[in-house]
Amino acid sequence: MRIDPNKITLRTASAEDDDAALTGLLNEAFPGFFEERSFFKQEPHQRVLAFQGPTLVGQIGIDRRVISIEGTPYRIIGLIDLCVTPKARRQGIGRALVQAAEALGQDREFAILFSDSPEIYRAWGYRPLPAAPMRWLAIDELRSHAVIEGEMSDVLLVKPLGTRKWPPGMIDLLGYMF
Ligand SMILES: CC(C)(COP(=O)(O)OP(=O)(O)OC[C@H]1O[C@@H](n2cnc3c(N)ncnc32)[C@H](O)[C@@H]1OP(=O)(O)O)[C@@H](O)C(=O)NCCC(=O)NCCS
Repeated sequence: MRIDPNKITLRTASAEDDDAALTGLLNEAFPGFFEERSFFKQEPHQRVLAFQGPTLVGQIGIDRRVISIEGTPYRIIGLIDLCVTPKARRQGIGRALVQAAEALGQDREFAILFSDSPEIYRAWGYRPLPAAPMRWLAIDELRSHAVIEGEMSDVLLVKPLGTRKWPPGMIDLLGYMF
């Protein structure tokens, strides 16, 4: 079943007005991760929210960042904690949220995300990368504690938003792993 576009509205989030509803949605979709707040490691720069009437039914967080690949800077958006409330799934809301985030990232070279469910994102054009080392800032319990290097290509998914190709080499996230 496809969604009736007249029944879903998308808009960007306001930290002040939407925080309580977001915390509820995120805790429902990712039990045990959010500890009664609306972000896990860090607050995204922007969010797109989906509403069915007055009810929040989905969200996607967006980080705007420059990352470095083998020493060359690339502008990316990071897609964060995409989720849709269980009763509203498989109606096209997740796809609409990803498309809205990509539209906000038209000035970027790539959209990237981390997920251990690559099959969800395949239909939306996201693909895993060949193995490459990666470096990022580790945050735990509201504390920056280390710069970590590791191999995360099995969970890193990428979609080009422009014409550049993702090059081989060390990926430095220049910040936390969203
Ligand atoms: C992942 C999630 C956001 C998808 O939202 P959704 O509104 O159900 O997605 P859509 O209806 O737009 O799906 C569009 C297409 O994406 C793919 N897709 C969506 N969910 C999928 C799943 N669980 N497994 C495989 N493919 C999936 C399908 O190709 C689907 O098309 P179809 O319904 O015609 O088969 C939702 O299932 C969710 O909130 N899951 C829990 C949180 C989560 O795991 N988020 C991802 C974190 S990385």
